[in-house]
Amino acid sequence: MISFVPLATIDPPAVEQLLDRAFGADRHGRTAYRIREGMRPVDGLSFAALEDDALVGTIQCWPVRFAGADGRDVALAMVGPVAVEPARQRDGIGRMLMERALAAAESSGAARALMLIGDPEYYGRFFGFTAERTAGWHVPGPVERHRLLARGDDVPAGEGTIGPRIAALA
Ligand SMILES: CC(C)(COP(=O)(O)OP(=O)(O)OC[C@H]1O[C@@H](n2cnc3c(N)ncnc32)[C@H](O)[C@@H]1OP(=O)(O)O)[C@@H](O)C(=O)NCCC(=O)NCCS
Repeated sequence: MISFVPLATIDPPAVEQLLDRAFGADRHGRTAYRIREGMRPVDGLSFAALEDDALVGTIQCWPVRFAGADGRDVALAMVGPVAVEPARQRDGIGRMLMERALAAAESSGAARALMLIGDPEYYGRFFGFTAERTAGWHVPGPVERHRLLARGDDVPAGEGTIGPRIAALA
C-alpha cells in the first residue's frame, strides 16, 4: 500500500540517498540543479511516496523564473526530479507522484506555468508537457532542446533566461 506525505516530513538525507540511487551520485552538476540553485523545494508541491513506512519515491518542485529579454518576469514552478526506488520502478509510483504534484499545482495556481527538463516520451505522453514555447529559453548549462518542456497557459514564449526565483527567498 502506497501512501503520500509532504516531502518536508521526511529526513532530508533519506531523500538525498534515494535521489542518488535513482540518478547516480554525479547528478548535482546537471543543468536542472543550476536552474534552481539556492532555492528550497516548494513545500505544497513536493511529496514523498511511502510503502509500509519505507521511502520509495519523491517529487520536488522549485520556484524559478523567466527573465525575458523584453523585461518580462514570469514565475514558474520547475517540476522534478521525480525519483522512484530502482527496485520499485515501472509500477505506477512515478505517475502517482506526478499526478499528486500536478493536482497540488492546480489547486495553488502554480499549474499556470510549469517547466521541467525530462524525457518528452514520458512527460509529454502522460502529462501534456511540450517544448513548443521553450525554444527561446536560455538555461545555465547544456540542455537537449527537445527535453526542455513546459505546460500551462502562462508559460512564456520568446527569448529569456530561466533561473532561480531569488525573491522567493525573502
Ligand atoms: C522515470 C521514473 C520517475 C518513472 O517512475 P516509475 O514509477 O518507474 O514509472 P511509472 O510506473 O509511473 O511509469 C508509467 C509509464 O511510464 C513509462 N516510462 C517510465 N519511464 C519512462 C521513460 N523514461 N520514457 C518513456 N516512458 C517511460 C512506463 O513504461 C510506464 O508506461 P506503461 O504504463 O505504458 O508501461 C522512474 O523510473 C525513475 O525514478 N527513474 C530514474 C530517475 C529518472 O530518470 N527520473 C525522471 C527524470 S526527472
